[in-house]
Amino acid sequence: MDTPVGGPTGAAARAHSNIALIKYWGKRDEALNVPAVGSISITLDALSTDTRVTFVPGLRHDEFWLNDQRTQSKRVLGVLNLVRERAGLSFRARVTSTNNFPTGAGLASSASGFAALAVAASAAAGLTPSTRELSILARRGSGSAARSIYGGYVEMHTGTRPDGMDAFAEPVLDTDPWPLSVVVAITSHTAKTVSSTLGMAGSRATSPFYPAWVDTAKNDLADMRAAIATLDFPRLGELAEYSCLKLHALMLTSRPPLIYWNAGTVAAMHTVHELRQQGIAVYFTIDAGPQVKALCAPADAALVARALAETPGVQETRTSALGPGAYLMGAQE
Ligand code: DP6
Repeated sequence: MDTPVGGPTGAAARAHSNIALIKYWGKRDEALNVPAVGSISITLDALSTDTRVTFVPGLRHDEFWLNDQRTQSKRVLGVLNLVRERAGLSFRARVTSTNNFPTGAGLASSASGFAALAVAASAAAGLTPSTRELSILARRGSGSAARSIYGGYVEMHTGTRPDGMDAFAEPVLDTDPWPLSVVVAITSHTAKTVSSTLGMAGSRATSPFYPAWVDTAKNDLADMRAAIATLDFPRLGELAEYSCLKLHALMLTSRPPLIYWNAGTVAAMHTVHELRQQGIAVYFTIDAGPQVKALCAPADAALVARALAETPGVQETRTSALGPGAYLMGAQE
């Protein structure tokens, strides 16, 4: 019997989701998935994806199982093809992937998913890429996934090269020097209606604010880098809220408009502002979905979670510390 590449059980990897403090929205190259603006994120410990990849001789088609359901994904095939090309491999792969949080509802499942896929597929094919190469590979699946290769505070660069080889993420600061908590207020468990990819293409083509979004990104990134370098939490939080609201202004002025918020989202934003008026340093950020992510010091997380849980429209909360980068769980596990 043929032995599959990477051993009979292939390779498995775990990657954690991330949320952007300075947001990515818009591409400078759609085919290579190169972002038009840089971004800065934090990796989250509580939200992760486990992915196993096995290259199986004789398998006729690539198989992708997401949360135990057979799924079609052109992007997964795209990443597998890049890995095969690099490894000089023709075998099809069996990919099984599990998220420990709701998929496709603005909790960045594509970030953790493609980071885990890049690590697992490369190892299963016998490749030993650098973390930078893994970040570039993960980016081909999803822009935000390039950041989930690293833990803690991470910056993604747009680069300038036409081939996108300088569009990768890099670590900015490790978790230890500056622990932070993120309380996720889940206001809907339904998968989002417009994917980030389609949404950002629409914003680029139709929002009159898009050029301003791209023009002001460099300043926001520089400010956030400075906030992180000085461990200045109010500055980090204020900037994160600003970048989030600027992104949503761009979404709202796209045609058709992208309205990712529901009533619970807005109520949770107000809860965060009320807590701030009471003297608690807490700030929100929201992505392409209805969930509100509140940033605060670990000592305030329980209080913030309680206030958000009591907010009308909030179904549940989940608190996360900052998490590690993507890692291999062992090829023969
Ligand atoms: C709002 O990384 O999901 O979460 O590259 O098309 O897969 P693609 O987009 P994706 O977009 C993330 C958008 C965001 C902001 C962010 O994470 O920076």
